[in-house]
Amino acid sequence: MHTWLNTANIRLSFTLVTGLVSLLCIGTASAQDDAITYNSHVAKILNENCVVCHREGGIGPMQLTNFEQVRPWAPLIQYKVANREMPPYAYDHGIGLQNLTGDWRLEQAEIDTVVAWVNQGSPLGDVDVVPPPANLPDPNAWTFAAELGAPSLIIPSVAIDIPANGNDLWSKHYVETGLTQDRCIKAAQVKPRGDARAVVHHANTDILVPDENGDYEAYGYLTEYAMGKWGELMPDGVCRTLPKDARVHWDIHMFPGGVGPSANGTMIEDNVVELAIWFHDEDFIEQSKPYKQDLRAYLMREGYENNFLVIPPNGYTMTQGFHSFDHPVRIDSYQPHGHLRMNAASLEIFYPETGRTTQISQVSNWSATWHHSHIYSPDEAPLVPAGAVLVIKQWYDNTADNPNNPDPDQWVFDGSRTGDEMSHAWIAVTHLDDAGYETMAAERKTKEDRAVAGN
Ligand code: HEC
Repeated sequence: MHTWLNTANIRLSFTLVTGLVSLLCIGTASAQDDAITYNSHVAKILNENCVVCHREGGIGPMQLTNFEQVRPWAPLIQYKVANREMPPYAYDHGIGLQNLTGDWRLEQAEIDTVVAWVNQGSPLGDVDVVPPPANLPDPNAWTFAAELGAPSLIIPSVAIDIPANGNDLWSKHYVETGLTQDRCIKAAQVKPRGDARAVVHHANTDILVPDENGDYEAYGYLTEYAMGKWGELMPDGVCRTLPKDARVHWDIHMFPGGVGPSANGTMIEDNVVELAIWFHDEDFIEQSKPYKQDLRAYLMREGYENNFLVIPPNGYTMTQGFHSFDHPVRIDSYQPHGHLRMNAASLEIFYPETGRTTQISQVSNWSATWHHSHIYSPDEAPLVPAGAVLVIKQWYDNTADNPNNPDPDQWVFDGSRTGDEMSHAWIAVTHLDDAGYETMAAERKTKEDRAVAGN
């Protein structure tokens, strides 16, 4: 009697079977850890990792502060967490260095817990169990205030009004620091005030100092902010210098109307971006004899400011930049930069003596909404001998498959508008001498040997 089964039925039952199989596959890992509940297991994970953005006034599109709010989103939460799209911190697992300072990624066990909870019907659990509350920073507070106290210096940009919509907008101007002696920076954070968070795409600051004639000349970069970034903490024992009499050059790029869920599409009056700096004590250089550290944009081609970047309509491209130093260095952090077509980036080190290349970092799901400075743990930050080569690779997808692509039919060139592209990586480098390099390498070896012996 089933001979008239048509192809549609077959296809339907096939889909059902594969659906069941994949459900079973997700389900098997969790079968033994039964009864995973919101109150006993999941609330803690969400409170610690999600609520900071998913709360009233946060930048997430919905609130996830209690069971009633979370429950309707359970399937989408499962999807985003299982795919490592939330929390938003794209950095590949299993490739390159994995111990990062300020890493937002969940542990695999936490991901498994959330997945299993949703598979079990996302139950509330025991009403007498009160989940630990979220420990929430004030979104308008400075990230490092809890740890380091109030900033030593705040340098505001000149206020401007940002229209409700329109083309990309830039504000470039100078602000004096008023510093009367050289200081070493311990931490820095750039933060748009209030509603401006949704429209400030990036805000760079660089430093200028007067020469003997009183004319200002470039000294170096101070810090770099881009949407989603939470500030920068310098490693121990290094000096990122802010010289006396310096002035700060603000270069702020805004996207009127805003991007992302917090965009409110209204005029923002008197927009100010603030730069907060925490200094080391005044006698830090005397006392600690620190090495100099700086943050620079390493380009795809030195001296060519992103030049030669061309992406055909519905096509792809890849860029590759090289840089080596005539002295040993330590690589402290890595932050690739691109816009809407860039979808992946990596950092490698090539050692000419051995012909080997080591993979340091890989970001395969890059998105312009989130810019992270991946800070290597002090025990792992790569020690690079003189002459070794940093290899900076970035990939661009101008096809319709790229979910961030506004128009795959456009030719895309290098440029600073959001719809143009860029190819560089911000890298913080500590400049060592041979003695410093030897000492650090030896200290690490001792630590590793001890760890091996301990095992
Ligand atoms: C740093 C801020 C931030 C953190 C932390 C964060 N989110 Fe999000 N989340 C966002 C923003 C912004 C969006 C919307 C834009 C996007 O997808 O990037 C979003 C989108 C989502 C969405 C999709 C909503 C939709 O309608 O498409 C889900 C689900 C989600 N987040 C769940 C989570 C969970 C679960 C966590 C923690 C494990 C988390 N988020 C952590 C900011 C955050």
